Amino acid sequence: MTAQPQVNRALFDEVMVPNYAPAGIIPVQGKGSRVWDQQGREYVDFAGGIAVSSLGHCHPALVNAVKTQAEKIWHLSNVMTNEPALRLAKKLVDATFADKVYFANSGAEANEAAFKLARRWALDKFGAQKDQIISFGKSFHGRTFFTVTVGGQAAYSDGFGPKPGAVLHAEFNNLDSVKALISDNTCAVVLEPIQGEGGIIPASAEFLQGVRDLCNKHNALLIMDEVQTGVGRTGKLYAYMHSGVTPDILTTAKSLGGGFPIGAMLTTADIAAHLKVGTHGSTYGGNPLACAVAEAVLDTVNQPQVMQQVLSNEQLFRRELAAINEQYHVFSEVRGQGMLLGAVLSEQYKGRSRDFFLAAAEHGVMALVAGPDVVRFAPSLVITPEDIVEGMQRFALAVKQVVNS
Ligand SMILES: Cc1ncc(COP(=O)(O)O)c(C=O)c1O
Repeated sequence: MTAQPQVNRALFDEVMVPNYAPAGIIPVQGKGSRVWDQQGREYVDFAGGIAVSSLGHCHPALVNAVKTQAEKIWHLSNVMTNEPALRLAKKLVDATFADKVYFANSGAEANEAAFKLARRWALDKFGAQKDQIISFGKSFHGRTFFTVTVGGQAAYSDGFGPKPGAVLHAEFNNLDSVKALISDNTCAVVLEPIQGEGGIIPASAEFLQGVRDLCNKHNALLIMDEVQTGVGRTGKLYAYMHSGVTPDILTTAKSLGGGFPIGAMLTTADIAAHLKVGTHGSTYGGNPLACAVAEAVLDTVNQPQVMQQVLSNEQLFRRELAAINEQYHVFSEVRGQGMLLGAVLSEQYKGRSRDFFLAAAEHGVMALVAGPDVVRFAPSLVITPEDIVEGMQRFALAVKQVVNS
């Protein structure tokens, strides 16, 4: 028998490309919102991957979907279609503004498809001059070269040679900054309804409506990147449903697969018609296993009682964070919606979100950061009140440790 390698954190540094700096622990088992590491230490999961594990770990409906589909058929390629993909697409269309769906494997790929579609739509309908994409400072749309260039953090896109052109950046929640850039040469404006990686910054209702009106005026498409906000995370199936402002293209991933890799781009029939046969594609996009799991996620999440639970969980999170803050005065505000919350560090603790994140892990709770000034929480939508209270007790100890350090 071949000897099995010793699997520990040191092996990461030995064999993995050093683009990540993972924590010292290696989780091996999860159930609901609890996770256990190699040493059997237990954690309360307030991170959900990064807003991915929408139904916690090993949810019975998802385990069942994987097992059932795994015994039928795993893969076909897009030379054939398959039943889970068609069922999932039909359910997404029925539940949203969209008429058509394109499947991908990640958020970046869903956005890549959206940007290419916007460019092709504009070229077909108006000509080559209509190629500008407007996005926003601090936005994040993925790590392919096109999506990272559209994203609003040059630090992520610099240093890789010439970038895709005709990408402009306005200031989020500042309509005048969009007015200053938008023209009849704009093919699309892309925004996150709540900027996630940028620091959990919600778009105001007036800003969303204002951007929609400007897009209409200049025949530009409004693309909403709901990769982080989608599939129930904010208490509606998609965050655009809170505002009454409907996008032309929507991208979704993360929570859609509940931990199984899948992404999707949703749009109207008129716009979709411009991605003709051969214009775009993916080997794994619409893979039957992924679509079977996502279908189970959608069936489970898109229920009034789950949306209600997201809102009551949000209230409990906010109460618990307020109680911690009363004692330690570390947050200036808690932003976000549903199970996507950001505790903004007060002046004295600015730049130290990673210290809170590391202390939290030490005390048995998994949190996230969203930039240097925000501690982010993106747990399972169906986390129990008991797990929230237990996790917050541990988080309070972490806060105490940072404050006293
Ligand atoms: C809003 C948003 N868009 C796109 C992405 C990229 O998704 P992925 O990492 O699945 O490519 C992310 C990931 O954090 C995101 O938050």
